[in-house]
Amino acid sequence: MEMGKNIAVIGSGYVGLTTGTCLADLGNKVICVDNNEEKIAGLKNCKIPIFEPGLELLIKRNSLEKRLEFSTDIADATKKSDLVFLCVGTPPKENGETDLSAIENVTREIAKASNGYKIIVQKSTVPVNTAVGLKGIMKQYIKTEFDTAVNPEFLKEGSAVYDFMNPDRIVIGTESEKAYAELAEMYKPLNAPILHTDINSAELIKHLSNAMLAQKISTINLIAMLCEKTNADIETVAKGVGMDKRIGPDFLKAGIGYGGFCFPKDLDALIYILKKNGLDSGLFEKVRDINYDIRNHFARKISERFDKEGGLEGKIIGILGLAFKPNTDDIRLAPSTDIINKLKSKKAKIKAYDPKAMENSRKILEMEYCDNLYSAAENCDALLILTEWQEFKDMDLTRIRGSMKKPLIFDGRNIYNKERMKNLGFEYYCIGR
Ligand code: UDX
Repeated sequence: MEMGKNIAVIGSGYVGLTTGTCLADLGNKVICVDNNEEKIAGLKNCKIPIFEPGLELLIKRNSLEKRLEFSTDIADATKKSDLVFLCVGTPPKENGETDLSAIENVTREIAKASNGYKIIVQKSTVPVNTAVGLKGIMKQYIKTEFDTAVNPEFLKEGSAVYDFMNPDRIVIGTESEKAYAELAEMYKPLNAPILHTDINSAELIKHLSNAMLAQKISTINLIAMLCEKTNADIETVAKGVGMDKRIGPDFLKAGIGYGGFCFPKDLDALIYILKKNGLDSGLFEKVRDINYDIRNHFARKISERFDKEGGLEGKIIGILGLAFKPNTDDIRLAPSTDIINKLKSKKAKIKAYDPKAMENSRKILEMEYCDNLYSAAENCDALLILTEWQEFKDMDLTRIRGSMKKPLIFDGRNIYNKERMKNLGFEYYCIGR
């Protein structure tokens, strides 16, 4: 086996922690850095700040085998490394523009600490032309030789470790043959196709990938609303459309839409960049609008159903699922939050359950939290499915029906068969079917 590389990963959030840990598992010596002392102290004791399947095991294994370390010291980690990965947050400002202050500060610190040839690899998702700017900052402060590269991540929360180890492609944007060779060698064990690009194109590949995926979801959700009006079935439509190899079957699942930190933020950033460059951003603005339309449509469906019974006031609504998608504890920009707030504003009483996301949800949403899905359903006037966790797909529907005040289900993720629900005696509403 080739000798592993010495790597510093700056920023230990979802991306940094997964990237650093997986790189250690490939045989490199990795130091994961974060300015949050509590987080780093925890990680040193294998206390993982996020829920991400498989990550804990890898952190334990690689810490034990001394390939993975944690630190709050950027300068020290830089000095000990040949490759420095930038994985700090690039949050949006109010106007959609990306806030680059963290990544710029970190770059300055790396440059000042540099004690030999370094490759600075930008992994954070940033607007096109950011790496060019960072290179300028590096030049201003660095005394040693260096190269820059852009190496976007395509990790999905809930399967980030798997995605890292099994990528569709690896994009390496760099003007330096030496930097390209180093990175290509580092990724060799993954046996994946590598695309060598210029740095600006690499930045745009990441933004456009997310924007096009979001566009697929909004397109299918718009047509789901049309299906309801025209008595067609969105699952059948998606299947037929997805069989065209040019379109493909993925990301055509209708439901209450996308959430999470990536799609909404990256779409806003792309809209901002298009406008800044004097181009029409309307296409992606519509994608964003439809993502809200579908949530509102779902909430409206619920309140219209309750109009027959004097409105939602005082009605008990059970919620199954808070996370923006299954297998994560992340509730950032989750459709569930909007929908719950709408129901609360109509004075409905909410009882909620999620297998992993309740701790995060408690910080932002006041409502009754239940220990399990059956107690969330008990005595409810209606039950809502907002995240497609496997345990909801597998639940005992007969038991649920028996414990509810009324057998009424609104399924925002289309997880049940309509006929079966009817036969079980449920009044069942879903999306586009
Ligand atoms: C996304 C990208 O997939 C990943 O490549 C990038 O690095 C980060 O952003 P993530 O946000 O973790 O990853 O989750 P993803 O699985 O892509 O789902 C995003 C949202 O779209 C979820 O809310 C999900 O419920 C929704 N979705 C997805 C649909 O509504 N329908 C679909 O068909 C697929």
